[in-house]
This record gives sequence, C-alpha cells and structure tokens, in this order.
Amino acid sequence: MALLKSNKVLYCLGNISPSLGVLSTRSSSWWGGVQMGPPDPILGVTEAFKRDNNPKKMNLGVGAYRDDQGKPFVLSCVRKAEALIAAKQMDKEYLPIGGLGEFNKACAQLALGDNNEVLKSGRSITVQTISGTGSLRVGANFLSRFHGGPLDVYLPKPSWGNHTPIFRDAGMQLKAYRYYDPSTCGFDFKGALEDISKIPEQSVILLHACAHNPTGVDPRPEQWKEIADIVKKRNLLPFFDMAYQGFASGDIDRDAWAVRYFIEQGHNIILSQSFAKNMGLYGERVGGFTVVCKDADEAKRVESQIKILIRPIYSNPPMNGARIATTILNTPDLRSLWLEEVHGMANRIIKMREQLVAGLKKEGSSHNWQHVIDQIGMFCFTGLKPEQVERLTKEFSVYMTKDGRISMAGVSSGNVGYLAQAIHTVTKQNDFALVKIHRVGT
Ligand code: LMR
Repeated sequence: MALLKSNKVLYCLGNISPSLGVLSTRSSSWWGGVQMGPPDPILGVTEAFKRDNNPKKMNLGVGAYRDDQGKPFVLSCVRKAEALIAAKQMDKEYLPIGGLGEFNKACAQLALGDNNEVLKSGRSITVQTISGTGSLRVGANFLSRFHGGPLDVYLPKPSWGNHTPIFRDAGMQLKAYRYYDPSTCGFDFKGALEDISKIPEQSVILLHACAHNPTGVDPRPEQWKEIADIVKKRNLLPFFDMAYQGFASGDIDRDAWAVRYFIEQGHNIILSQSFAKNMGLYGERVGGFTVVCKDADEAKRVESQIKILIRPIYSNPPMNGARIATTILNTPDLRSLWLEEVHGMANRIIKMREQLVAGLKKEGSSHNWQHVIDQIGMFCFTGLKPEQVERLTKEFSVYMTKDGRISMAGVSSGNVGYLAQAIHTVTKQNDFALVKIHRVGT
C-alpha cells in the first residue's frame, strides 16, 4: 500500500497497458487536443517585460499609472479610505448579487451627474461589477440574451483589444466603424459619420466615452453632437465604455460630457464604468454597469434579469474595492483629495507627452509628432510600424503593444529621454510612413 502511494510507482503502473490486464492508474490525456494559445496582446507584453534583465527596460504596454519614479501609485485618498474602513471593523458577509447599494448609487451619480433626471426618476439600474471588463461582459451577456435588435455590435476601428473577445464570447457579432485616421493620427470624423449612418437599425454601437483606447483620440463636443444625432436617426443602441473618467482632462465632469449629452438627447444608453484607472484600484476590480430604461418599472425588470445573469457566473461581487470607492465618493474631504489626485495624474501624463516630443526634437527627429501632444488620456497611438515596435523592444527593451500604442503612464522624467532616443533611432532611417491600423487582440 505504501508503495502504491509513491508517485514513482503510480507513474510506472500508469505506463502498463490495460491490455495486459493491469488497470492503468493514469488515464490517457483529456487535453491532448488543446493547442497552445498566443499570449494576451496587452497583458502578454508585461510577461515579456518581466523576463528582460536590461536595467533600462520600460513597460509601456499595459495601461497602468506609474508615478514619476516609475512606481505603481496608490492614491492617498485610497489609503485614507482603507484606514477608515479598517477602523469600522465591518463584517465580510456576501454582498447582494448586484453589489453594494451605496456604491451603485455613487457610481451612477459620478457618471450621470448628481441631478440627472434619470436618477431622480429611478429609470436606470446600476450593478457593481468586476471592473470594466466584468461590466462589459455582463452587458454583452445581457444584450445577447435580451436585445430585440440584431446581435451586432459595432466597435470603433481600432478599439480596445479585449472588446472583441468580450462580445464574441458572449455570442455577439463583431462589426466596425471607421474611427482613427492614420494619415492625421486623429479622429476620422467623416469616415465615422459615413459608417455609422449605414449601420442597420437597432444594432449596438460601442462608444468610448473619453480617452479612447488605444488611440487617445476623442471626438470634440460638436462632433459628439453629430454622432448623437446619427445614432438617433439610425435608432442604434449606444453602449458607452467609460474606463477613464477624469483621466482624459483631469476633470470628471468634462470627461463624462458625451455620456450626459446622449442621455439629455433622449438616448437610453448602456454604460460600463471602471475605477481601475481613475482611483488606481486595478487589482481591486471595481466597476459598474448601468442601463438607462424607459421608466422605473422597466428598470426593475431589467435589474431582475441582470441579477439572474450574474448569479451563475460569480454569484456576487467582491466588497473591498467597492467599499473603498464608496468611501472616497461619499466622504467630502476624500472626494476633494481624489479630484486633486486624478487631476495630478492626468497632468503628469500631459507633461510627459510634451517632454517626449521635446526629446524627439532634441534628438534631431524631423517627423511631425504633434499627435503625441494632441491625443489624450493614458495612451498615445504613436504611428510606429510593427517592425519599428519590434526594434524598440529588441534593441532598447521598450515594451509596447504591436499596434504602436504606448502607455504614457509608464513614461517618467527619468526615462523620457531614453524613450525619445529609442524612438528616434528606429524612425530616423526611413520615411516615417504612418502605420496602417493593426488591431490589438483581433
Ligand atoms: C489596457 O488597455 O492596457 C488596460 O485597459 C488594461 C487591460 O486590461 O487591457
């Protein structure tokens, strides 16, 4: 018996064919047909970065804020909220399926504005979700089960790499509308309007509320107005992804402008929110999912079905991050501190954009890098070609996604000069023809 328990013996017995009359203790593989999958286009960059020993290495892949020393940044308002929560010695019971009620209220108010008629009339529902990704997935599952129109979701071209698998895995069909113009590194307003005006009625259109990921290119308010008009004419269902409220301009109200404008214009939007970036709560997984409905009765019915969707997936969300976010949003001192800190993060990024362009000029680059300054939020869509990106990684240990996106949040006063030198080296030889759109993760 003792022998049989030893791994070695079990291993040997497993090799004896059952045809010899000895029962194998190891079944043949269940997973032999499973192929090796590719690394994640965004998170896989971090894995490669970690394996590199170059002391000058830079991780500009994942969008995670770093301070000017290149260190992960925990906001002071978060530390203070944690201390308040710890002092309360609260229990660890399950949250309701839809999450912490106070969080849901504060989350919706943050997006829609305190005095929004939708909130006053109770015709929206918000549930706490596992950050922005979880929110989008709950939304995609809800659409796939209940949307009466076509199960087509139109994404801007390009869009965040994870949008495609989120909607695809939920059973939606992926379509695209023009968004980014590689010739200007800016918004293709004309192309977007043309494409949106041809989207079949009642389809779902995904819109990045602010700080578009990966391009850092946002429509201006007057352009949003025209988009809202066409979306209405085509009777499309707008699904806003707002992962960067406060991060684009440093002002939470300004960044929520498009969401609020659409609602004012009578659009019953769907909204995903994340607190990963604007509160630095990445690993706490805090987000919200909101559906604006026709009336309070519809909202109640929708909420009941969303709970039915959530329960078999993760039962109910984790509480710690939601408590932190709620404490910040609902404690006036902490809220003001948070607003200052968001502003500080946004400003540091804007400063890095300017320093990068100044550094490129200093290196002698003759290319026009104005888009690096004009783009907004955490990311800069540099226009670098995949082979230039490859050289940056191989020769300089600068890690970024293949589409040429860099997370400006990973740039600091200490490494911006090195980055400028690296980019100049890989762009100086040939004419810097702008890259064709190369979608991450699709
Ligand atoms: C990013 O785009 O880098 C972030 O949104 C992080 C992620 O999960 O992809």
